[in-house]
Amino acid sequence: MLQVSHLMVFFENALALNDFSMEVGRGELRGVIGSNSAGKTTLMHALSGLLIDIRIKEQRRGGERITLMGKIHYEGEEITHLPPHERVQRGIVLCRERHPIFPESDVLENLKIAGYLRAREETRRSMEFVFDLFPVLKSFRRKRAGFLSGGEQQMLAIGMAIVAAPRLLLLDEPLLGLSPAMQRHLVDAVQQIRSERGTTILIAEQFARPILPLLDYAYVIENGMMTLSGAGPELMENPEVRAAYFGV
Ligand SMILES: Nc1ncnc2c1ncn2[C@@H]1O[C@H](COP(=O)(O)OP(=O)(O)OP(=O)(O)O)[C@@H](O)[C@H]1O
Ligand SMILES: [Mg+2]
Repeated sequence: MLQVSHLMVFFENALALNDFSMEVGRGELRGVIGSNSAGKTTLMHALSGLLIDIRIKEQRRGGERITLMGKIHYEGEEITHLPPHERVQRGIVLCRERHPIFPESDVLENLKIAGYLRAREETRRSMEFVFDLFPVLKSFRRKRAGFLSGGEQQMLAIGMAIVAAPRLLLLDEPLLGLSPAMQRHLVDAVQQIRSERGTTILIAEQFARPILPLLDYAYVIENGMMTLSGAGPELMENPEVRAAYFGV
């Protein structure tokens, strides 16, 4: 479904992604595991097309700072330079890091905003799924999103991504800053999104422990370079992964 080949991203002279190649098959749950500054968000921005927007904004301010090389194919078509809204229409939806929501609007309004590109009936059905997945959002549907807890805001952010009807859902550090119990709850939800909706999912995380065992395949990234890859359970046993991510 998704193929990334020899992707390179420079911010001025700094290399954020270095010759990065990966793929995701339809229906799979794959992951990119890396610590701070590894290049996870840069990859997610390259895949969602946000990087194209960021580059255009930078150019308007003067000076071409961002360079993107390599290729991204989705469903057999090259999308490397396609703007983000065209990728959303094709079903590539990114849930950005640090639960981006509209804090002044209530939960229901946030979900409706996320569904603006979709038919009303489709949005209604997606919202029902989101409320089944995260019942707390249903009980708080008239609460201002800014007053939700961090975990609830992350649920809302994932809910918003679902309402945008992804075929390929990109999750950038959904577990960041959450308690272990909340992390487990979100990991369960990710599995449910995949099993009940058949959504293909790519997740970027630095907290490998809760998610790695469930990944069909994972890529470990350090300083923009892939250092290891393999099936999630297999990487769980890898001594380098254990030392770097589990402290053992
Ligand atoms: N807009 C930008 N301009 C300049 N440098 C950037 C920009 N965005 C990212 N970088 C640099 O690219 C590298 C990769 O950053 P990136 O945000 O992709 O890492 P990350 O893996 O998402 O980290 P984190 O876990 O902290 O979110 C870092 O060295 C960062 O400083
Ligand atoms: Mg990041």
